[in-house]
Amino acid sequence: AYVVTEACVKCKYTDCVDVCPVDCFHEGPNFLAIDPDECIDCTLCVAECPVEAIYAEDDVPAGQKPFIALNAELAKTWPVIIQRKDPLPEHAHWATVQDKLDLLEK
Ligand code: SF4
Ligand code: F3S
Repeated sequence: AYVVTEACVKCKYTDCVDVCPVDCFHEGPNFLAIDPDECIDCTLCVAECPVEAIYAEDDVPAGQKPFIALNAELAKTWPVIIQRKDPLPEHAHWATVQDKLDLLEK
């Protein structure tokens, strides 16, 4: 499955959801999660994300492995999002900030 990683936190551009053929993105307050049981590995969402937050599970960068389990966990409780919406208000600032895992709201 594909995995949303920390670049998404506090940005949430949502360009990714428009292209997903199986609607497996789920929306939280400041992050999206992919349901690994629904993702069909089509790869379409990867190029859509302006901050390159989405990786194949096997390619998730070393420091971001916790996001693999987090996507699976959060996707189970968060609602599905199928339509793109405006990014979060301070997306431009947060797009370049690293180590945002602690800022992820559940
Ligand atoms: Fe959806 Fe395809 Fe991205 Fe998986 S890889 S989340 S199926 S768009
Ligand atoms: Fe997040 Fe990128 Fe989608 S910032 S909401 S993974 S387009």
